[in-house]
Amino acid sequence: MQLSRAARIILVGAPGVGKGTQTERMLKRFPQLSSISSGDLLRENVRKRTPLGIQAESTMKRGDLIPDSTILRLILSELISHGWLTTDAPRTMTLNSASAAGATAESGDDDDAFITSSPLTSQKYNFSEDPNASFILDGFPRTAAQALQLDDLIPINLVVNITTPTAIILDRICNRWVHAPSGRVYNTTFNAPKEEGKDDITGEPLTRRADDDPDTWKNRLQKFEETSMPLLEHYDRKGVLWTVQGNSSDEISPKLFAEFGKTFGRNQT
Ligand SMILES: *[C@@H]1O[C@H](CO)[C@@H](O)[C@H](O)[C@H]1NC(C)=O
Ligand SMILES: *[C@@H]1O[C@H](CO)[C@@H](O)[C@H](O)[C@H]1NC(C)=O
Ligand SMILES: *[C@@H]1O[C@H](CO)[C@@H](O)[C@H](O)[C@H]1NC(C)=O
Repeated sequence: MQLSRAARIILVGAPGVGKGTQTERMLKRFPQLSSISSGDLLRENVRKRTPLGIQAESTMKRGDLIPDSTILRLILSELISHGWLTTDAPRTMTLNSASAAGATAESGDDDDAFITSSPLTSQKYNFSEDPNASFILDGFPRTAAQALQLDDLIPINLVVNITTPTAIILDRICNRWVHAPSGRVYNTTFNAPKEEGKDDITGEPLTRRADDDPDTWKNRLQKFEETSMPLLEHYDRKGVLWTVQGNSSDEISPKLFAEFGKTFGRNQT
């Protein structure tokens, strides 16, 4: 389906709710949509030794967390590289804002300095409403504070609150076993191995993925709930929140497609 305007969306849901599955299906269904993953951007920038990647790598080597501002810069430079976000006269504005903020003049000596160190909020950004400038942002923002910072750069216009009953996710996780060497996945309800605990083909033992340990998952869920509540409330106040419920990805996808199509699809009147 073709879009009538740019969709800038994020999917929020508990670990194990199937955000990755929904993202894949959305990309297939709506070819104008791309995925921007902050984790992928980080890895790619480190690998390509970009100024931001070098900066991030040294932060990680010190054992420090990557600051939100770095993640924002990664997203920003990705959007700029697609032409989906533009700035007015960056060099001049960088120098003006640096002196206005009483900062030293070291930024602005280098073209890269704009993206690595100029104050993000001193810029005026123009974002494209072209339907091809549509993306699902993955991995960021996770907190309301991060969402506020992102709002200043480019407004998200649909946030999907994906919900599946906790008991059902837990059940799914507890029933999932993998044959680690091949990646074959079994679940004891729908697709049980022929012999309990053994891979059908090699007969080797099945294991549980670390993420599928129920206690690990419960800890992640609790953390998720603490941070996502204010995040969702933030977007609810902005009027862009939409909640979808379902017991499985197959139940959720058609509802998501329909809502997305209604919001961004080309009008067929
Ligand atoms: C169980 O496995 C089948 C086949 O791989 C899959 O279609 C189904 O979604 C899985 N169910 C759960 C609850 O994970
Ligand atoms: C997100 O969905 C859950 C479950 O349907 C609901 O309880 C919660 O209120 C929703 N969050 C917001 C902010 O609407
Ligand atoms: C989802 O699962 C709940 C039990 O947790 C059940 O009551 C409900 O009927 C299920 N919904 C659908 C549409 O299958």
